[in-house]
Amino acid sequence: MNPLLNTLKNLLNQSIKNLFPTLPANFQAIITRATDPKFGHFQCNSAMPLSKVLKMPPRDIAQTIVDALLALPNHPFQEVSLAGPGFINITLSSKAITESLQSILNDEHLGVTAPEHPERIVIDFSSPNVAKEMHVGHLRSTIIGDCLARTLEWVGHDVLRLNHVGDWGTAFGMLIAYLKADHPRVLSGEETPSLSDLMNWYRASKYRFDENSEFKEASRLQVVALQKGEPEAFAAWQLISKISYDAYHQIYQLLDIKLTDRGESFYNPWLADTVELLNKKGLLTESQGAQCVFLEGYVCKDKQPMPMIVEKSDGGFNYTTTDLTALRQRVNDEKAERIIYVTDQGQQLHFKMIFECGRLAGFAPDTVQLDHVPFGLVLGADGKKLKTRSGNVEKLADLLQEAINRACVIMTERHPDWENSHTHEQATQLGLAAVKYADLSNHRQSDYQFSYDKMLAFDGNTAAFILYANVRTISIKNKSQLSPAVHLKLTEPSEIDLALQLLNFGNTIAHVASELMPNRLTDYLYQLAILFNRFFHDCPVIGGPQEAERLALIDLTHRVLNQGLILLGIKPLDEM
Ligand code: ARG
Repeated sequence: MNPLLNTLKNLLNQSIKNLFPTLPANFQAIITRATDPKFGHFQCNSAMPLSKVLKMPPRDIAQTIVDALLALPNHPFQEVSLAGPGFINITLSSKAITESLQSILNDEHLGVTAPEHPERIVIDFSSPNVAKEMHVGHLRSTIIGDCLARTLEWVGHDVLRLNHVGDWGTAFGMLIAYLKADHPRVLSGEETPSLSDLMNWYRASKYRFDENSEFKEASRLQVVALQKGEPEAFAAWQLISKISYDAYHQIYQLLDIKLTDRGESFYNPWLADTVELLNKKGLLTESQGAQCVFLEGYVCKDKQPMPMIVEKSDGGFNYTTTDLTALRQRVNDEKAERIIYVTDQGQQLHFKMIFECGRLAGFAPDTVQLDHVPFGLVLGADGKKLKTRSGNVEKLADLLQEAINRACVIMTERHPDWENSHTHEQATQLGLAAVKYADLSNHRQSDYQFSYDKMLAFDGNTAAFILYANVRTISIKNKSQLSPAVHLKLTEPSEIDLALQLLNFGNTIAHVASELMPNRLTDYLYQLAILFNRFFHDCPVIGGPQEAERLALIDLTHRVLNQGLILLGIKPLDEM
């Protein structure tokens, strides 16, 4: 929350209601930041819509409000004025701004208010598929999901981070049959393949499955064996899964991301119950031998009603059955009050239908909030969907490594005097920060172009720019012999601007937590870094008349930048 904005809202609402008692009790004034600093700090545009309700010219309404605000005892305004067709421009006094910021100075949570009721939140993110490529889409899900989890955790919620890995299904029958025939030494544990070996075999097994009917039958038998839990098939599946999980966790470790693995297989014991429950609710219809739910308003391209298949004609279950079952489990056993799914935009329809069906079936009561967090594509330099050459997880690691290598070149140039190991450590953090920031700073629903040069630049809306501003705050603090003042003093316009931005951290975080938009936080930090640089340019600190007071402002800026970076999943550097 922004304490100052809150006071402002209360004052405006109260004054308007006193002036116009006929307005409904829940009336809320519209207040936004001024579009141009020359109009002041904030503006209220409520006079125009009010004019219709009150049948009065908007300028008259606005003038009445302006007069009332200025007549308030001890008001926080430096200036309130009427402009144009009825805008109210508001400039706050430095005294009011200073007092508000003072309250944040002593707040460990930097103006972020704890939720009235902390929630139990499940975030389902990353979630690659065993023996298949972990692609840049999964990388996006991993980075965005982690940022949202960190934010919600820091705000005070109880978050369960789940990796819903695709580790179940008929494809495994194929792979096991293939390994049995061609690579028995893998199944006996005498040979340990890499994930790319597995992926190649997966592709080969699919090819054989389509070509060879005997192999098809052998695969089917393996699926049956696996579902029955027969030891040999089960051991083979475990082995395949382990190789995949190990590879994913190397990436998570590099990215410093914590995730609890809970693959699709976890829900296997309850899939049949889910179908039975849907049946009891009268939601099932048989269509071409499959058990389906038909939701109202969903049609296929050919205008036929769109089925949600929950049991295939061969009796097998699928992705949808698993998601409905996971929903039940998360509500009933995990006591989730909010469930967030982070996947590519292509799955929007899937989740829309899962949520709707989940509500109809009573799997998720209305008190449980369900959010799908869709995101767009990562594009290569050619403007086409970015594909690592063979598209496997090692290549994803290569992509991160390339960012680190380039960061290393930059760091070596800047600091030829550093020890190699130190350069490498700092460059690793910078490289990873660049990749994460580039991803998070784009509106998540737009596609974005992956460019090492852009993401590693020290200028513009990049990780390096924010990290560097933060390093600057540290080095000034180190340079000064004084300790920060206990009381702030804000005099220069660039101090006031910086203060107003610092006051907005709480609001920004609240917005990220409700709307699940990480780019709101990167935009905020980018603005903060710009305003800090401006302040630093305009206002002498060391040896100046307000050294201790300015140190306090710098220290607060440092705390906000630092915390913001941490919430993005970026390790702040102390030198660059
Ligand atoms: N494994 C899926 C994929 O790669 C993502 C799973 C997302 N989570 C879920 N509960 N469906 O597309």
